[in-house]
Amino acid sequence: MGYVKLVFFMLYTFLCQLAFSSSLPHLCPKDQALTLLQFKDMFPINPNASDYCFKFKEFHSYPKTLTWNKSTDCCSWDGVHCDKTTGQVIELNITCSGLQGKFHSNSSLFQLSNLRRLDLSFNNFSGSLISPKFGDFSNLTYLDLTVTSFSGQIPSEISHLSKLHDLRISNVYPYGLRFGPHNFESLLKNLTQLKELHLYDVNISSTIPSNFSSHLTTIQLSLTHLRGILPERVFHLSNLKTLNLSDNPKLTVRFPITNWNSSASLMELFLHGVNITGKIPESFSHLTALHELDMGYSNLAGPIPKPLWNLTHVEWLSLRYNHLEGPIS
Ligand SMILES: *[C@@H]1O[C@H](CO)[C@@H](O)[C@H](O)[C@H]1NC(C)=O
Ligand SMILES: *[C@@H]1O[C@H](CO)[C@@H](O)[C@H](O)[C@H]1NC(C)=O
Ligand SMILES: *[C@@H]1O[C@H](CO)[C@@H](O)[C@H](O)[C@H]1NC(C)=O
Ligand SMILES: *[C@@H]1O[C@H](CO)[C@@H](O)[C@H](O)[C@H]1NC(C)=O
Ligand SMILES: *[C@@H]1O[C@H](CO)[C@@H](O)[C@H](O)[C@H]1NC(C)=O
Ligand SMILES: *[C@@H]1O[C@H](CO)[C@@H](O)[C@H](O)[C@H]1NC(C)=O
Ligand SMILES: *[C@@H]1O[C@H](CO)[C@@H](O)[C@H](O)[C@H]1NC(C)=O
Ligand SMILES: *[C@@H]1O[C@H](CO)[C@@H](O)[C@H](O)[C@H]1NC(C)=O
Ligand SMILES: *[C@@H]1O[C@H](CO)[C@@H](O)[C@H](O)[C@H]1NC(C)=O
Ligand SMILES: *[C@@H]1O[C@H](CO)[C@@H](O)[C@H](O)[C@H]1NC(C)=O
Ligand SMILES: *[C@@H]1O[C@H](CO)[C@@H](O)[C@H](O)[C@H]1NC(C)=O
Ligand SMILES: *[C@@H]1O[C@H](CO)[C@@H](O)[C@H](O)[C@H]1NC(C)=O
Repeated sequence: MGYVKLVFFMLYTFLCQLAFSSSLPHLCPKDQALTLLQFKDMFPINPNASDYCFKFKEFHSYPKTLTWNKSTDCCSWDGVHCDKTTGQVIELNITCSGLQGKFHSNSSLFQLSNLRRLDLSFNNFSGSLISPKFGDFSNLTYLDLTVTSFSGQIPSEISHLSKLHDLRISNVYPYGLRFGPHNFESLLKNLTQLKELHLYDVNISSTIPSNFSSHLTTIQLSLTHLRGILPERVFHLSNLKTLNLSDNPKLTVRFPITNWNSSASLMELFLHGVNITGKIPESFSHLTALHELDMGYSNLAGPIPKPLWNLTHVEWLSLRYNHLEGPIS
């Protein structure tokens, strides 16, 4: 009898604790609030620092970190999201917040090791390198450093982020970002979950290896000094929607693609300013979802390729600066 009572008592206290804990507000751990406030204090606000925000995203910048206030729960701060059960900060989104200043390797941000999503895009960290410590956010699925004015070499540690679904490091002139030798290959090989890759205007200066994630839906690698021959495997990605390889004159796209019928999802194909060789294949007619096609300035010659006339959903087509001739059907 005593045993049964004990079991009931234990069950009762357990249920009470469960009810109590689930009714608690999800308070942000004190150390993480402090970490975020230290981060905030490192960067004075200069609205000019997010000038490119409206230009690229048509989104008006505003200083999210100004609302961060130690007398409120950090999980309620603008751009901060916490795990519902543990209260840990798992997402930080301070895109277009007018932050300006140097982003050092000793930044308190790197203490938030639980982060799953991190968006620092459209702030001005001019004069800073991308710290190798970004590679320590081992649970990161989303990393956005678009137009953050970082410069120098992208650390090889970025390829430790093997859970990434989405990586965006596109930059704008004159802030030169580049990959070290073989680092781009390692990155593609290690990030096996990748769906989106945006590296516009980063000096990659290598070939595209054929070992990359089969989940890719968006590849934005324009203006990246790519060279060599584009692996056919790119055209066999069954979920690919956007392929932008524009302005890579040393990159060769060799047609026809063998057994090409798996790119039915492709909606945007930008091969402006790449070296297209061979004949545009009949299988182009399978690109039934294609809305935008740019093959300007890409060494095409001869009659206007017939398969292009089968692309009935194309809303935007450019074949500028080629040597095409003949009637338009
Ligand atoms: C922002 O840019 C404008 C125009 O270029 C300039 O007049 C102003 O001083 C800048 N503001 C700051 C805080 O740098
Ligand atoms: C970024 O900050 C640097 C100085 O730290 C300045 O020279 C540059 O013009 C700024 N860029 C933008 C887009 O505000
Ligand atoms: C922080 O919040 C408290 C209470 O809401 C308010 O009195 C205080 O002015 C706020 N401080 C800042 C810097 O916004
Ligand atoms: C970040 O926040 C902005 C609004 O401030 C939103 O438009 C954007 O989708 C968010 N980014 C992510 C990755 O959730
Ligand atoms: C972080 O590092 C920078 C440059 O090395 C240094 O100037 C700054 O004082 C350091 N900040 C802290 C809080 O240690
Ligand atoms: C990553 O996520 C897993 C599973 O949610 C968790 O057990 C682990 O502690 C996390 N790692 C870090 C560094 O936060
Ligand atoms: C690939 O990722 C794992 C961790 O997931 C890491 O240990 C390894 O060093 C990475 N390889 C490269 C080349 O970065
Ligand atoms: C790009 O990187 C390669 C190799 O690192 C270098 O030789 C080349 O000069 C760089 N190009 C530009 C425009 O910076
Ligand atoms: C790609 O890399 C994975 C993991 O490193 C390996 O198992 C696979 O054999 C590689 N595939 C090719 C085509 O190299
Ligand atoms: C492709 O990249 C070029 C720059 O090289 C840009 O002008 C164009 O808008 C991009 N298109 C897409 C769909 O990303
Ligand atoms: C374009 O491709 C052809 C055929 O592969 C090659 O002979 C030529 O050198 C390439 N041009 C450039 C600029 O890479
Ligand atoms: C392309 O269109 C032409 C004329 O409309 C048609 O005869 C041909 O079968 C089409 N090709 C494909 C592969 O759909």
